[in-house]
Amino acid sequence: MTLTIYLSLLFLCLYLLALTIRKFSFNRDKARMGRESRLGGRVIVRVEEMAPGSVKKFWLICQKYRLDCFLINYQGKYHAYINRCRHMTTPLDFVRYQFFTEDGKQLICLTHGAIYQPETGLCVDGPCKGLSLYRLPVLVDQGDVLVSCPKGDLPFLADLAD
Ligand code: FES
Repeated sequence: MTLTIYLSLLFLCLYLLALTIRKFSFNRDKARMGRESRLGGRVIVRVEEMAPGSVKKFWLICQKYRLDCFLINYQGKYHAYINRCRHMTTPLDFVRYQFFTEDGKQLICLTHGAIYQPETGLCVDGPCKGLSLYRLPVLVDQGDVLVSCPKGDLPFLADLAD
């Protein structure tokens, strides 16, 4: 009986510690995003660091959520999406940093093979055909690529956050 009480207290303390660490990390990232932002978007990368066909992973703090995202340069144009497949809430890059198909023409979720158009995020083949990745606004300013949070009421973010 006593052991059960001690174990319960131990798990409660561990849980509270994990919550505190998570809150601390969130606030640290939020402050960092504030420092790295202008014109409503976070600076993700310099233009010259993103050759066509390249991908850059990053995170954004949107409302009270920390979102895993990725930016692509597809045929000279930048597109950014939340890194969550529309089939299940898993990242597209099951194999780290692999977002494009071998021919570089489509995005792919390696978990079950969903295929997305790079320029629109529309799923054109696989288990989520017809749905789209969650798109993020992209802006190029002074040689930097900036990405913003999606606008409006965003209750769906709760399911997509880390
Ligand atoms: S989780 Fe992406 S295709 Fe199933």
